[in-house]
Amino acid sequence: MVAPRHYLQFKDFSREEYDYLFARTKWIKDKFKRYERHWPLADRTLVMIFEKQSTRTRLSFEAGMQQLGGAAIYLNTHDSQLGRGEPVEDAAQVISRMCDLVMIRTFEQDIIERFSRHSRVPVINGLTNEYHPCQILADIHTFIEHRGAIQGRTVAWIGDSNNVCNTWLQAAEVFDFNVHVSTPPGYEVEAERAGLYGNSHYEEFADPMDAARDADLVTTDVWTSMGFEAENEARKRAFEDWQVDADMMCAARKDALFMHCLPAHRGEEVAADVIDGPHSVVWDEAENRLHVQKALMEFLLLGCMKNDA
Ligand code: CP
Ligand code: NVA
Repeated sequence: MVAPRHYLQFKDFSREEYDYLFARTKWIKDKFKRYERHWPLADRTLVMIFEKQSTRTRLSFEAGMQQLGGAAIYLNTHDSQLGRGEPVEDAAQVISRMCDLVMIRTFEQDIIERFSRHSRVPVINGLTNEYHPCQILADIHTFIEHRGAIQGRTVAWIGDSNNVCNTWLQAAEVFDFNVHVSTPPGYEVEAERAGLYGNSHYEEFADPMDAARDADLVTTDVWTSMGFEAENEARKRAFEDWQVDADMMCAARKDALFMHCLPAHRGEEVAADVIDGPHSVVWDEAENRLHVQKALMEFLLLGCMKNDA
């Protein structure tokens, strides 16, 4: 049996593969907007395993699979044997014999790595403590739609050096752009955990205003990610000065975009007048999860396709 291709972190794909995926996403999205049927995955089944909550990831994968002609099955920790200690390796053997594709949202990256090693079918990371590759796939597609190529641009990451931040840092290495990161002391980037080859594509700033200066894109995320709830109060105190507000957007380029993977907490990591203001593209960003993941699922199951008919 040929080993399946997985998408577990952003650096799993090459720049050329991303170029294909973004072109394909545009084609799939345009066709969808014209209400034209595109069923390349008829009779294929996606299993979605959620060990953490979700709105966008579940909806975009489930709707996306249906729109490609296939079916999607939702499993979670509470009502499957996964929550009762069945070894992840055993679960992978069984689940991957009954479906064509698996998407997992879980805690440590190690869990999805172990699952994928025992899976007969491609596995997609739908968020782990370390990474959220599908999110940055959508974010970069959104940037390209609004501003063109991201190569050579500057992205300002304000706040926690979490799964979304780590994925931006990997993407910067793949696409050759710069990330200006500003985190409170004690929450800095851990290059090894982020899976980086070096630090040539990011720079750390003590003051978030300095990180935002002249950025093409300013982005942030919740101060407390899922799984870290016990740290919530300490984090609220530590992150107080790391809110993306109107002054910060003024420090960025005049035409800078604002993105947030959502869900957002207005008044914490972002001011309401920024997320609901003219720089914000968060709704396009959320919608694009659907379109990029359709291209991703098609690619993993069928390889490169021609953008015709
Ligand atoms: N951005 C994102 O992954 O959202 P959900 O947690 O709602 O899936
Ligand atoms: N960093 C957040 C992203 C949620 C989509 C979390 O992991 O909870």
